[in-house]
Amino acid sequence: MKTTIVTSTPSQVETEALVAVVLDHANTGSNEREKKPELKVASTDSAMQAAAADLLGSGEITGRSLETNLLHKPANLKAKRLLLVSGGSAKKFSAYDLRRVAGTAARALKSRGIRGFAFVAPQGMAEEEAARAIVEGTLVGNFDPDYYRSDRKDQKIDAVTVVASGDKAALEKVANEAQIIGESQNFTRDLVNEPSNRMTPTILGDRAKKMSAEVGLKCEVYGADKIKELKMGAFWSVAQGSDEPPALIVMTYEPAGAPAKPVLGLVGKGITFDTGGISIKPADGMEKMKYDMAGGATMIGAMRAIALLKPKVKVIGIVCATENMPSGKAQKPGDVQIAMSGKSIEIINTDAEGRLVLADGLYYARQLGCTHLVDAATLTGAVVVALGFNNAGIFANDDDMYNRFKAANAKAGEKMWRLPLDDEYKDQIRSSIADIMNSGGRWGGAVTAAMFLKEFAEDTPWIHLDIAGTAWMEDQKPWIAKGPSGIALRSLVEFVKSFVV
Ligand code: BES
Ligand code: MN
Ligand code: ZN
Repeated sequence: MKTTIVTSTPSQVETEALVAVVLDHANTGSNEREKKPELKVASTDSAMQAAAADLLGSGEITGRSLETNLLHKPANLKAKRLLLVSGGSAKKFSAYDLRRVAGTAARALKSRGIRGFAFVAPQGMAEEEAARAIVEGTLVGNFDPDYYRSDRKDQKIDAVTVVASGDKAALEKVANEAQIIGESQNFTRDLVNEPSNRMTPTILGDRAKKMSAEVGLKCEVYGADKIKELKMGAFWSVAQGSDEPPALIVMTYEPAGAPAKPVLGLVGKGITFDTGGISIKPADGMEKMKYDMAGGATMIGAMRAIALLKPKVKVIGIVCATENMPSGKAQKPGDVQIAMSGKSIEIINTDAEGRLVLADGLYYARQLGCTHLVDAATLTGAVVVALGFNNAGIFANDDDMYNRFKAANAKAGEKMWRLPLDDEYKDQIRSSIADIMNSGGRWGGAVTAAMFLKEFAEDTPWIHLDIAGTAWMEDQKPWIAKGPSGIALRSLVEFVKSFVV
């Protein structure tokens, strides 16, 4: 997708479709039932306001968030169409909402066969912030997962123009960065979308290698021999049950001129299919477990964005990729495994496999010199019980690290919520036979899973993102297709950028 900035009055822009945001200026707090919306186009362009006036004043539209209305041949505009997308209340409207508005515009227009549009940066928001949200939101909306349908239309927006008034060069820089980030998010979504027969650990490793070669990253993909040689007993305990070989993917970004420290480690769970192993999952919904490599795919996509954005900070991306299968070679409940760090683990449930591969991934990252760690994983069903589908869970062993991450997360416009990691929870994962067990039972399952990982991050500042409820959209929304969401990538990239002084 091509992105351009034009600095001119919206009514003068020649385009297939001009997109403008409609905001409701009615005072909230009054009786909701009596409240009439006061809808206005978020632009000072009087020709555009006039073109929208009849519709906005007609009483036919509610102004509710993400409502769309399309006008043909709008009077006194050079655009062929004017698409009005509601952003809800003017008071509450933020870049977070603008991303969704842009995604909605992209999906509404591409389904009509329109390939390009010009989006008017809404008045009242800093233009650089708006340009970023428009480009990222458009790219998110542009993705569709129906690759294997014979009737796939593959309608795509090829070009988006941001209509603004400010410093063109500065806006172009922002739009270019937003494009890298949005395309990387879609790259991740492509990986997650693939079913497990087409996205084995080996294929995931090949995709990481190919991407790395394209963007100039160093990438090593190791197999079973290296995993055993490194004494990654926790990772191997999951991999041993599968005929499909595992892959330890290590991507290194070391830009010239970066300080020796910090070294950021991004560690992803790459379970290309999670049957549960011997503690096998019920058949109902098991097909969804192809997305159990979303954390790993997020790290591969984040490394792509980082390599292209070139921040002066060292980053290592590590993905522990394997299937979790039942077989004659599979580990069994009660088995004791020795992790790379030397800690012994009693396996209570072979379906708690993500924490096992990450235990060794996190420890290995520290061995490679990482001073700060972030992991992303579709780790627990319990986080979905706690937070549903709208917030990912954040866990942190260090408040400074948390605050830095949270600031990046807010800038990236992704919803995440911190959950606790108090020492008391450790009691639930104490074992009578080994140092620790891999399941803390039903209660507080997202927390006890994070407590398990904390044993391997030890005193290295660390963030854990549980994306089990957010990596896959259960339904389509006006702004995003059903399927992989690419959650966490934007926050991770912003977090990495925050280390550049
Ligand atoms: N991959 C699952 C978690 C998951 C659940 C991801 C739903 C996406 C959607 C994970 O490996 C798992 O099976 N976790 C178990 C842990 C339990 C056995 C301690 C769970 O959450 O039930
Ligand atoms: Mn599992
Ligand atoms: Zn899993």
